Amino acid sequence: MKVPSEAAATTIDETDVRRFFIECRTLVDAQLDRLMPSGSLEPVRIHQAMRWSVFAGGKRFRPALLLASGAAFGAGQELLINAACALEMIHTYSLIHDDLPAMDDDALRRGRPTCHIRFDEATAILAGDALQTLAFQTISEDVQLTMEVRVRLIQEIARAAGTPNGMIAGQVDDLAAESRAVSGSELEGIHRRKTGALITASARCGALIAGVFDDELDAITRYSAALGLLFQITDDLLDVTASAEELGKTPGKDARARKATYPALYGLDGARRRAIDVYDKACAALDEIKTKSELLRALAHYILQRKG
Ligand code: IPE
Ligand code: IPE
Ligand code: MG
Ligand code: MG
Ligand code: MG
Repeated sequence: MKVPSEAAATTIDETDVRRFFIECRTLVDAQLDRLMPSGSLEPVRIHQAMRWSVFAGGKRFRPALLLASGAAFGAGQELLINAACALEMIHTYSLIHDDLPAMDDDALRRGRPTCHIRFDEATAILAGDALQTLAFQTISEDVQLTMEVRVRLIQEIARAAGTPNGMIAGQVDDLAAESRAVSGSELEGIHRRKTGALITASARCGALIAGVFDDELDAITRYSAALGLLFQITDDLLDVTASAEELGKTPGKDARARKATYPALYGLDGARRRAIDVYDKACAALDEIKTKSELLRALAHYILQRKG
């Protein structure tokens, strides 16, 4: 993977970012294929379900962020790749469960039928569970990392994916908010936990593998916390404005499910203004990083403008 030239702010344009995503996807997909049980291994149904959802064409944003963050602080790709795959496994598990009838009840994901539609609910629940455990197994067995780093990454991801400050807590509050009004600060808290926490963990894991601590870890945490919130605000916006082809999922679901979203609370223009404010915060945090951070800045800009 080549990180685009980072000599000046203007040297990384949208084409470079797209190329970076394509390179990440190629790398990550090849390693995921090695790490995941073959679809012909017994019990085949669960392995096929895991692969159905993982290899359905996601953006691989969390692995890309981990790779970009690690590279910014000088870590080699071979040290980063397994953790990047682990983050994608956790993320895909969260999507499989998010789509279940008991949660958002969605039939389309990554441009194909959701796991519970293609297989069945029990298989989808188990495929999500299996992806989560495989993620932690992958990191625990990564012989290229010291035991100390492995434990640190596992702690980081478990906290971000769990409760009370991680994705599970956010998902619980997201569902509860379908039947009651929430304030702006409550909504921000939901988005920071249900989506932001794992995105923050992705950036932090890259930095931790590179051996970054203290002030720079603090700055990358603030950058990626803003980026994570931005990611969910733009997800909310796209649910209103994008097509099924662009999204690979059914648009308009949030309003129908009475979800608490930025457009629902602030209107489209208000949500867009908030997205720009949060993007500015992400960039301001990067100003405190001494190492080259133009790719990280370009990723934030890409998320601000994304169409899918
Ligand atoms: C969708 O995530 C769910 C959210 C947390 C907003 P992505 O938009 O990253 O989905 P994929 O991985 O590209 O399918
Ligand atoms: C998803 O939020 C957050 C997690 C999966 C943890 P959404 O419910 O908005 O995601 P989409 O829109 O279904 O992808
Ligand atoms: Mg949801
Ligand atoms: Mg959903
Ligand atoms: Mg959404």
